[in-house]
Amino acid sequence: MRFKLLVVDDEKNIREGLAASLEMDGHAVETAADGDEGWRRFQKGDIDLVITDLRMPGLGGEELLKRIGSETPGIPVIVLTGHGTVETAVEAMRNGAYDFLTKPINLDRLSLLVKRALKSRELELRHRRMEEELEHHKQFETIIGTSAPMRRVFDTISRVAPAKASVLITGESGVGKELVADAIHGLSPRRGKPLIKVHCAALAASLLESELFGHEKGSFTGATARKRGRFELANEGTLFLDEIGEIDQNMQIKLLRVLQEKKFERVGGEETIETDVRIVAATNKDLKAEIEKGTFREDLYFRLNVVNILVPPLRERKDDLPLLITSFLKEFAAENGKPVDSIDEKARAAIYAYDWPGNVRELRNCMESAVVMAKGPVITEADLPPTLRTKNDEGWIRIPLGTTLEESEKIIVRDTLSFLKGNKSRTAEVLAIGRKTLHRKLAEWGEGSDESGE
Ligand SMILES: Nc1ncnc2c1ncn2[C@@H]1O[C@H](COP(=O)(O)OP(=O)(O)OP(=O)(O)O)[C@@H](O)[C@H]1O
Ligand SMILES: [Mg+2]
Repeated sequence: MRFKLLVVDDEKNIREGLAASLEMDGHAVETAADGDEGWRRFQKGDIDLVITDLRMPGLGGEELLKRIGSETPGIPVIVLTGHGTVETAVEAMRNGAYDFLTKPINLDRLSLLVKRALKSRELELRHRRMEEELEHHKQFETIIGTSAPMRRVFDTISRVAPAKASVLITGESGVGKELVADAIHGLSPRRGKPLIKVHCAALAASLLESELFGHEKGSFTGATARKRGRFELANEGTLFLDEIGEIDQNMQIKLLRVLQEKKFERVGGEETIETDVRIVAATNKDLKAEIEKGTFREDLYFRLNVVNILVPPLRERKDDLPLLITSFLKEFAAENGKPVDSIDEKARAAIYAYDWPGNVRELRNCMESAVVMAKGPVITEADLPPTLRTKNDEGWIRIPLGTTLEESEKIIVRDTLSFLKGNKSRTAEVLAIGRKTLHRKLAEWGEGSDESGE
């Protein structure tokens, strides 16, 4: 790892001498002729270690040390003291200096000291990176999914989270749009600040305005005190506008103005309030169609939709079913204090055959009721809601148009297996494939390849 060092000293000879010696050690070195210049350079970022003289015209070394400490704790600062006065050095150590050297500088000592300081800096950086990775991972744990379409969603989330760009999350009801919004905030530099959520469809138009922008005392009947709106509360954080497709024309104009100018007034107020908010919006409506109909403003759409995340419906990512089923089973078994821990072949086939119009929310509800209904540790088809019971026993497999070849193969295999009551040898025979092939496919899809049902 190559580090960048900053040497701050008003004496040109010392500054350049130190820089030359540190460069010989293989470091990248920048110099500054006084505290002010040093501070400006430091603020630009990417400095790993600072060596500074204490007495300089303008901003002194003590002050520089304090500023660095409060801006970026963990950056080692080595102070140089010209007068051999132990007191000033001790004072500097108290203020967070890594160590001190007295002039004239012994270059070998400096070299050792720098090496040691950088070693601890490297350890700290590594530690911090690990913590960040862990945090990163945690954010995704709440969104279950390993299918290719969900991996693409995760990838987009990772890439947009650090930016400030507005994100529009689209997808059918129950696909997990709110979880995606949570992850974007949780992985962004704004995570320490508030994530404020507004459910746009739940509020009448007049209430929504005061909810978003706040109001002044007496601005309308019932406004008995000044109220801060969600835009103010979300300052420096993220504002999640859920069901954005539901807001009326008047609100669309007001919202557009805040997005363009980053300013607004409270209802009934004169004062213009500036706001620094990242907007994440969600909708299950087709906003393009709304634009065509003239019910949604195109300019607002472009402001909101800088990045689009389309969360695919569950029927297009049935590979996510095994993990979702297991996780919901576990959750509801624990919640209901029941020893349910698995699901039989027929019930599983019914879950796969169903097309989940209510998406993950419907699956979650289905698993909850199944756990409640289950008589033993294994969920059977009888425990599932009636809408799910397949008609496979009539001898037909129905595959909706638009199903991929890969997905169709799975449906065929699973439905045949289910029709043959889980008998894998017969299933292989009927499908004219080898038993090994069948087992391999099932294992690949996370169906297990135990020899039961033979
Ligand atoms: N990938 C997932 N992993 C685990 N739980 C999920 C997942 N997707 C959705 N859920 C759960 O499903 C339910 C619905 O999710 P969410 O509220 O995020 O959906 P939505 O897309 O916002 O739906 P709507 O458009 O109806 O508001 C929640 O209980 C959520 O925790
Ligand atoms: Mg939602």
